[in-house]
Amino acid sequence: MGSLISVRDLSREQVEEILDIAGSLKKGKTENLKGSVVLLFLEPSTRTRISFEKACRELGLETFSVLGDSSSIVKGESFFDTLKTFEALGFSSVVFRVPFVLFPYEGLVRDIDLSLINAGDGTHQHPTQGLIDLFTVKEAYGDIEGLKVLYVGDIHHSRVFRSGAPLFSMFGAKVSVCGPRTLIPRGIDVFDVEKVFDSVDDGIEWADLVIWLRLQKERQKENLVPSEKSYFEQFGLTRERYKKLKGFFMHPGPVNREVDISGDVLYSEKSLVLKQVRNGLLIRKAVLKWCLG
Ligand code: CP
Repeated sequence: MGSLISVRDLSREQVEEILDIAGSLKKGKTENLKGSVVLLFLEPSTRTRISFEKACRELGLETFSVLGDSSSIVKGESFFDTLKTFEALGFSSVVFRVPFVLFPYEGLVRDIDLSLINAGDGTHQHPTQGLIDLFTVKEAYGDIEGLKVLYVGDIHHSRVFRSGAPLFSMFGAKVSVCGPRTLIPRGIDVFDVEKVFDSVDDGIEWADLVIWLRLQKERQKENLVPSEKSYFEQFGLTRERYKKLKGFFMHPGPVNREVDISGDVLYSEKSLVLKQVRNGLLIRKAVLKWCLG
């Protein structure tokens, strides 16, 4: 029984193993697992929660949901004691989304006898989204050695960037970022980025693939951009910028229309957005199989 908290814990071989399982599932292979999974979602989610639930059911796993303010965490119970409760009740796994950063976590993994799967913890990690993005790009481009991948937007608050960028680097892609300086984290260099672009138009000229990120208004304690309108004008995917894209674009969702991306181009020819959603089901099944199989 394994856990997946951070992509930083995965070797290239392990990532390839998970992608291979997803690839086989896509070709029609079926997998059956036994057990029961708690979906503990303390933050809002549409695609991650529902695709994990669908993945569990299609694999034969029972699911139980604990959502939002309905857990005893609101009464002061710790995350650790909540997990101990699920362990005592005999569940196999907990898929969790939490608003706080779970770091360090080695002690938690050691002391809880459950498979723990991170579906997003604060600004830290969202490993299944990183794997979805890698899988989707490999499908669209084939070998990604040397591929120029640009992340645009709210890098500072993005667990999607912190999960995807190390995976792209692991497979030899070149990663750059672009956004308002207020949304570029200090210490961005630890992510092995090629360039930090101030101009999205320069970034688009450089990139083979662009990943727009959501402006995470709910995590901003102060006004980090002058206005949504000016943010869109300076960094958003407008119709004019869409025409200049050399390859595909992605967005993990949910999208702020006319802030991150123009609604006109969201589901257009160069968009991989719905492919990311579809691949979400495969990757989450593959991760469940990898952890519990
Ligand atoms: N990409 C993502 O995590 O979306 P949800 O918040 O809808 O799950």
